[in-house]
Amino acid sequence: MRVLVTGGAGFIGSHVVAALRAHGHEPVVYDVRAEPAADVRSPHSVRNALTGVDAVCHQAAMVGLGVGFSDAAEYVSRNDLGTAVLLTAMADAGVRRLVLAGSMVVYGEGRYDCPRHGTVRPGPRAVADLDAGRFEPLCPECGAELSPGLVGEDAPVDPRNVYATTKLAQEHLAAAWARATGGSAVSLRYHNVYGPGMPRDTPYAGVASFFRSALARDEAPRVFEDGRQRRDFVHVRDVAAANLAALEASSRPGALTAYNTGSGEPHTVGEMARALAAAYGGPEPVVTGEYRLGDVRHITADSARLRAELGWKAQVGFAEGMREFARVGLRN
Ligand SMILES: NC(=O)c1ccc[n+]([C@@H]2O[C@H](COP(=O)([O-])OP(=O)(O)OC[C@H]3O[C@@H](n4cnc5c(N)ncnc54)[C@H](O)[C@@H]3O)[C@@H](O)[C@H]2O)c1
Ligand SMILES: [Zn+2]
Repeated sequence: MRVLVTGGAGFIGSHVVAALRAHGHEPVVYDVRAEPAADVRSPHSVRNALTGVDAVCHQAAMVGLGVGFSDAAEYVSRNDLGTAVLLTAMADAGVRRLVLAGSMVVYGEGRYDCPRHGTVRPGPRAVADLDAGRFEPLCPECGAELSPGLVGEDAPVDPRNVYATTKLAQEHLAAAWARATGGSAVSLRYHNVYGPGMPRDTPYAGVASFFRSALARDEAPRVFEDGRQRRDFVHVRDVAAANLAALEASSRPGALTAYNTGSGEPHTVGEMARALAAAYGGPEPVVTGEYRLGDVRHITADSARLRAELGWKAQVGFAEGMREFARVGLRN
């Protein structure tokens, strides 16, 4: 299969390219950082790149939480205008298969259960609570402590920041494209991806990169909140394998199917910092109590649908993956 990989020069995209090659497919890298530079917002160059292509694996995006609200227009432009231009060109060229890099951020907070009220949906956390070190969201009905659970694909969406909003809009655009063209779209809603080639820390990077970059400078990883926020850290090679599985599968025409893509093994951010620091042989992490508005407390996915329908399974365990990540370098 000839597959156009947008964002193919990026962290996850370059692993997707390697996985496609290893399985006898023909990846075509399409990225503003590649040579020649190619922007998904350029109708002319997207149209040219689609020649002879059987499927598109759309990884290109502006990622991360960003800085305040100042880059909202750039997120929307790269992620949503970019996706619209790409889908239009696919519709014209008759390319009917899309795999999209989705994200867990579309859910907002994870799943919570109250002992009295069952599954509840706490809203964004108040600044006053965060300032006072009250990080756990409470039951919106009775104020009781909640127990975090696993989010399924049918959970209601609730994007909490600009990036999350643009990732959700990408899915809506892809669903509209699928309906209009009879094409099939899959969104792999990735959890926190880490591994070789992860970009160095910028305001746009993920937490594993912040910690790994600190260790590379011989500094202690700085863990925000109380370190007990839960995430699912999934290895980039497993994410690449999920993309391969989705590209090779015959998925539902005329619709978008979403799959949570996580390791299935929740860990706290504090645990991750400790595992990484120990593997690196660096200073112990410090828990700072700082926070970022727009971060959610706990978010962990149930990836059972991906395992059942696409036969995918995470292969890289947490301890093993963190040991490797401590050893390999980050990308500039
Ligand atoms: N890293 C994670 O933990 C994570 C989690 C959830 C979802 N995702 C999604 O996975 C995808 C890949 O992310 P990543 O972590 O590899 O980030 P990355 O920044 O390493 O890769 C993104 C790539 O897209 C390219 N790009 C950006 N704008 C472009 C444009 N207008 N035209 C062409 N190329 C453009 C960049 O040059 C870069 O190489 C993104 O869609 C992201 O939203 C990542
Ligand atoms: Zn309650």
